Amino acid sequence: MIRVAFFDAKEYDINSFGRLEENPEVEFKFLETKLTEDTAELAKGFDAVCVFVNDTVNAAVIDRLCEYGVRLIALRCAGYNNVDVKSAHGRIRVVHVPAYSPYAVAEHAMALLLTSVRRIHKAYNRTRDFNFSLSGLTGFDLHGKTVGVIGTGKIGRIFIDICRGFGMKVIAYDAFPAKDSGIEYVSREELFAKSDIISLHCPLTDETRHMIGAEAIGRMKKGVVILNTSRGALIDAEALLEGIKARKVGAACLDVYEEEADIFFEDRSGHILNDELLSRLISMPNVIVTSHQAFLTEEALANIAETTVNNILACLAEEGGFCENELCYHCGEIEKCRQEKRRRCQDEGGKK
Ligand code: NAI
Repeated sequence: MIRVAFFDAKEYDINSFGRLEENPEVEFKFLETKLTEDTAELAKGFDAVCVFVNDTVNAAVIDRLCEYGVRLIALRCAGYNNVDVKSAHGRIRVVHVPAYSPYAVAEHAMALLLTSVRRIHKAYNRTRDFNFSLSGLTGFDLHGKTVGVIGTGKIGRIFIDICRGFGMKVIAYDAFPAKDSGIEYVSREELFAKSDIISLHCPLTDETRHMIGAEAIGRMKKGVVILNTSRGALIDAEALLEGIKARKVGAACLDVYEEEADIFFEDRSGHILNDELLSRLISMPNVIVTSHQAFLTEEALANIAETTVNNILACLAEEGGFCENELCYHCGEIEKCRQEKRRRCQDEGGKK
């Protein structure tokens, strides 16, 4: 029996993983707490930990996990910016769920965009109060507008297809443009200058951190709508607030926020929020915040549970087993190290 300590467990996780419980080879212990340096001890005696976006899996936590004999870190999400994969290399294996429903995230991005530009959030509250006035609800057509998509991977491309369905002109920037994709790639600067709407779908890396800051906002069109369903730290939130106050940014739709780790996913109503910046952003009439909800569909949860269990079995049912979703640092660059060879590239030579 493979024993897995499941950190930051929510009701919807317990439901979706619970449905797979007939699998006799993996047993989950659901823990409400997040994985941090202080809680790592709870992983003692387990073969693996299962973690999500706001668990801390830095070098210190990895040291503890190795000390306790934990052999696998199973991320039940795609992004892995919260894991020090370099520190884990050769000591503890790391797997993730690269795609569970890119449609869920792309559709949420469009839901946020439509809500914002057609003021649905305002109208919903008004009519509930029997206020049927249209004053201040004027929106704009998406048809004919230019959307700039940053990151044209699985989610970005689906979002592009959705936008094309609305009759929008699409331009894109990607550090690794997809060949023969029919996507019109431009430089980042050109994208900032030409887009009426900008949507972020690239990972958080040292290079992309704060890619939307004061300078980038300065290059954008007045009234630009910024969508972020990727990772909070892609945007310098202070610069965004300044852009909104200066009436340069027309609207912002944020499913993620740089400092979300201690705030999102929990009921904070009735508490005073200790984050001035987030409070200011939420108070703006043209900002919509959802709390990292873009992934949350039935289909995505079922896929996450299934892939996570398969990842765990691939790695641990047989010692050193191959797992196609392993984040391998062997070549020094995770993206480069995606093996298509059905075996672990560590097996091919010494460690680097
Ligand atoms: P993907 O790996 O399929 O695509 C990412 C794209 O970004 C690739 O085309 C890559 O070449 C590009 N990229 C890498 N570095 C770049 C750079 N410096 N500048 C511009 N583009 C760059 O990933 P996928 O599945 O499309 O996910 C995108 C992001 O969405 C993830 O990194 C994750 O952070 C976020 N996400 C958010 C969720 C939510 O619930 N809000 C759920 C799932 C993912």
